[in-house]
Amino acid sequence: MRRLVRILLVRILLAIVVVIAAGVAIFLFKPAPLPDVSVAAAKLPTGQALIERGEYLTRAADCAACHTTSGGQPYAGGLAFKLPFGTVYSPNITADKETGIGNWSDAEFVRALHQGIDSQGRNLYPAFSYAAYARMTTEDALAIKAYLFSLPPVHAEAPKNDLSFPFNQRYVLRFWNLLFVPDGPLSQDEKQSAEWNRGAYLVEAMAHCGECHTPRNLLYGLDNGKKFAGAELQGWKAYNISSDKTTGIGSWSDEQLFDYLSKGHADGRGSATGSMGEAVDYSLRHLTPEDIKAIVAYVKTVPPQTSSDKAIVEAEPPATLTTSIAYAPSADSVAQSGLGLKLFQGACASCHGWNGEGLQTPYAALRGSRTVNDPDGTNLIQVILKGAHMTTPLGKQAMPAFANAYSDVEIAALGNYVLAHFGGKQSAITPADVAKARMQ
Ligand code: HEC
Ligand code: HEC
Ligand code: HEC
Repeated sequence: MRRLVRILLVRILLAIVVVIAAGVAIFLFKPAPLPDVSVAAAKLPTGQALIERGEYLTRAADCAACHTTSGGQPYAGGLAFKLPFGTVYSPNITADKETGIGNWSDAEFVRALHQGIDSQGRNLYPAFSYAAYARMTTEDALAIKAYLFSLPPVHAEAPKNDLSFPFNQRYVLRFWNLLFVPDGPLSQDEKQSAEWNRGAYLVEAMAHCGECHTPRNLLYGLDNGKKFAGAELQGWKAYNISSDKTTGIGSWSDEQLFDYLSKGHADGRGSATGSMGEAVDYSLRHLTPEDIKAIVAYVKTVPPQTSSDKAIVEAEPPATLTTSIAYAPSADSVAQSGLGLKLFQGACASCHGWNGEGLQTPYAALRGSRTVNDPDGTNLIQVILKGAHMTTPLGKQAMPAFANAYSDVEIAALGNYVLAHFGGKQSAITPADVAKARMQ
């Protein structure tokens, strides 16, 4: 009798396991249905008006930043995203029928932006910021497609992804989507102004600020409990931009934030470089002043998050303030301060000056910049290695790359000098730190 019960129990258990396994298999392998986009399409203008709206939104969503290589054709893809488990390349999203998305239907395009699924039903990696675009309206997604399809198709095959098992198994992402991808467009908050709501939409569904500025959890999902608390990506720090007064941007005036976002520089706060420089160059500087004001209004209301980052800006660094713009170090002080000062004098002072104000252009003003106040020197090393450039209302601004000009020892010494002089920080950047940064 006991044996019979046991056999029965085992069978019931087996049946449960089979049912669960079948459920999981159906969930994993059933093609995700295509959305009905006809209602949204009917609401859109046609012809040139639609393409212009699409162009503005494509800029606001910054599709170019990831789908264009430096010097490459716009939207032709091929940019590498180095992830801990391999490399993903952005595909060609021009209307080329063979190597791009020329054969995609409107519904397939909308599904890609909202759910991260390609035209074949395969899941896409979240290096593509679809968790943000999921909050975009279907109308706006369709306008973006109309714009991309109005451009000349570019024939360019993107390199194949290089991912190891099990990360090359795309269906695993179905679980990820379940956990981290919001369902449907951002809803209006009736308690807030129209300006705030516009800002929220631009920040969350379009400009995807959180994709860089919000830390991720172990599963690579955004940890929105620490919204905008800062994160590290591709070797750069995307600083804390919550309203915390010391480690965030709570003490920035509205005007400073407006200038930084729309022009890439704010007096007393430094200039945007790295992927932020790109976000300004490709995207934010093309937005209307009203939209930038809306972004400022929204960003300023994000609750403060204190980060453990030691990149706290010293407004009045003693060494900077006791130097004049055209200060010339004596042979004695060069001998005392050593390599860092010598290199700064030779390679940097002609543009940056010594008192943190910048020569010729305010874009080269270093005083007040987070980057020269971060004892880790993360972005400082990167900007010395890679340089920076941006189109601004004052014309093209550029700093050359020094990766080939100096050794790891020299860049480490230069970094430590810049942090001491412009940020009043004791730092210990080592040649090994520079070597590591070169790999990123
Ligand atoms: C943060 C970087 C990033 C941004 C921003 C971005 N993409 Fe992508 N996108 C990617 C990557 C990487 C992939 C490839 C993912 C993969 O292989 O799974 C991708 C894939 C795609 C695909 C799938 C194409 C195919 O052939 O499978 C489409 C369509 C797409 N992106 C459109 C867009 C549009 C439209 C925008 C702007 C609204 C945009 N992307 C913004 C990185 C980005
Ligand atoms: C592609 C990644 C990326 C995106 C998207 C992005 N940022 Fe940034 N952001 C960065 C990085 C990296 C830095 C550091 C730049 C530097 O060192 O010059 C930065 C710096 C900043 C700073 C300066 C902070 C400080 O203390 O100096 C502000 C403000 C800022 N971002 C706001 C925003 C807002 C608002 C958005 C969305 C509209 C946004 N960012 C989107 C990567 C990004
Ligand atoms: C030809 C002029 C020029 C030279 C030489 C130059 N820079 Fe720059 N630097 C700039 C400009 C212009 C910017 C702002 C660029 C931008 O934001 O796109 C900048 C940006 C920076 C920043 C980031 C500022 C911020 O607010 O985050 C740092 C740090 C920096 N430079 C350090 C150096 C160091 C160290 C050297 C010497 C190895 C150097 N620069 C040489 C012109 C120059």
